[in-house]
Amino acid sequence: MCGIIGYVGNKNASSILLNGLKNLEYRGYDSCGIAVLNKELQTRKNVGKVSEVAKKENFLGLMGRMGIAHTRWATHGGVTKENAHPHLSNNKKIAVVHNGIIENHEELKKFLKNKGFNFYSETDTEVIPNLIEYEFSRNQDFVQACKKALKRLKGSYAVLILSAYFDGVIASRHESPLVIGVGDNEFFAASDIPAFLEYTKKVVYLYDYDFVVLNKNIKIFNLKKNEEIKVKISSIDWSVSQAKKGDFEHFMLKEINEQVETLKKALHQDKRVLNKIVTNLKNAKNIFFVACGSSYHAALTASYLFSSIANKQVNVMVASEFPNFNHFINKNSVVLAISQSGETADVLESVKYAKQKGAKIISIVNVMGSSLVRDSDEFLLLNAGPEICVLSTKSYTSQVVLLTLLAYSLVKKYEEVLKKINYLWNVVYYLTSENMKTKIKELARRIKNKEHLFTIGRGLEYPTAMEAALKIKEVSYIHAEAFPGGELKHGTIALIEKNTPCIVFVSEKNKHLIISNATELKSRGAYIIGVASVNNPVFDFWIKVPETNSFNPITQIIPIQLLAYELALLRKCNPDMPRNLAKSVTVK
Ligand code: G6P
Repeated sequence: MCGIIGYVGNKNASSILLNGLKNLEYRGYDSCGIAVLNKELQTRKNVGKVSEVAKKENFLGLMGRMGIAHTRWATHGGVTKENAHPHLSNNKKIAVVHNGIIENHEELKKFLKNKGFNFYSETDTEVIPNLIEYEFSRNQDFVQACKKALKRLKGSYAVLILSAYFDGVIASRHESPLVIGVGDNEFFAASDIPAFLEYTKKVVYLYDYDFVVLNKNIKIFNLKKNEEIKVKISSIDWSVSQAKKGDFEHFMLKEINEQVETLKKALHQDKRVLNKIVTNLKNAKNIFFVACGSSYHAALTASYLFSSIANKQVNVMVASEFPNFNHFINKNSVVLAISQSGETADVLESVKYAKQKGAKIISIVNVMGSSLVRDSDEFLLLNAGPEICVLSTKSYTSQVVLLTLLAYSLVKKYEEVLKKINYLWNVVYYLTSENMKTKIKELARRIKNKEHLFTIGRGLEYPTAMEAALKIKEVSYIHAEAFPGGELKHGTIALIEKNTPCIVFVSEKNKHLIISNATELKSRGAYIIGVASVNNPVFDFWIKVPETNSFNPITQIIPIQLLAYELALLRKCNPDMPRNLAKSVTVK
């Protein structure tokens, strides 16, 4: 969703904020804006991508040593300059940037209108600066006014407040991500760590209702408990180069290539934590996996492995649907939540429900300090480094490898995965090689003008087909749908026309049936792309991927990640910022 950043220090705020916005742009790219304080509040904003707007509106022309900025993914109100953040109070003395949704904004708007306030945007955010102005007019203490105003908000928010009334930046969060960066005589507040990673690796993770006052010092209060909180500084081990494109043209390609390393890093786990999790899973009366998007596909993949390797039945739920099955949760349940960001609203909501019912919460997550990490009884980190491209690539395969490790660990075969990973490393190296890229480019050229595409698999290859379809559709906008091979004859085959591309995932285990399905498709005119260890006469195009059995979900998806990337380039789509999408979906 949206990305926010704030700065207080001795440097020129606008260049730091602009840099931060560029690093946060993966969270939203509809519009952006900045406010800097230099006695007076100066604000600039417009519709468009960060670099375009910053140039047009001359963000760097703003001078001052503190400020706030925002890059927007529109939820309430269209993509217009008026709806872009920062939003100002009626007297133009208070600026606010916000990520989240204020559920009672209509009610608050009505209240403020009765007090004589006017509104100029369609956003829910605009109530916040005006509510602060109202509270400040009653009691000339700015920090108190902010506290009072924020206490009246219902819904989710990460907010940064800048005002001509106060020498500092105020930050607060409830159910939306916000982290503080602590530098030398300077502070940052941002939706995500990459926004300030090049300035500091010291961070303060915030909890719900934390209210932070940043000026020469940092003070944290909890709005709910009405008390001051001790500031706890943690260090992060992400490097600046991990959050930069380096020699790559896009983050998507960089992150696909990184899988050679990230798969190994996913297995660097504390054995004691792993054993605890395995014991919880063994003792559970029922197990639920909850996740969204690609993380859901990783969960689905794992459910096949838990069944075949560990003889464990797992209920896999798209997190937004989980509340419908909530009544099956009790203190003997384990809910395993899978999320790259650890901030996906529906996942957090599911975990909250499950916790209320007494279930054990385990999570697999990439971002240390994220809300999901804090809401979990136990967690495993993916160790994949920051993933910047909106599409999940390296975090998906890391999730799958870690879940595979759990399945094997349940039957005391932990070492087998560690051994296998060295072999897998060579396979992934080959799958991301220049030869493979040339081959995939050729395939992309052949199918780039198609409107529809289908992917099929059976068993463990079915979730891979789902992830493949998602990758292709979300970045190239070709309509792509996945089916289990056995379902084709129940409807989908009616859509097959001459040269409709169909990607078929073949494994040693399912080869006879899936090849038979491919033959059925071919006889209706389909153009068959086989992802398989050996060629077959039914294939019009063969992508050779060595057979890796229960690791096929990791190896078979990589060429399709590359295909999605190449299709995006050929169709003139930006692979890192697909239209209408955001990296972290922090609203329901
Ligand atoms: C968004 C992203 C996807 C991601 C999904 C779940 O839709 O664009 O790449 O898979 O959210 O995100 P999570 O952070 O929970 O894994």
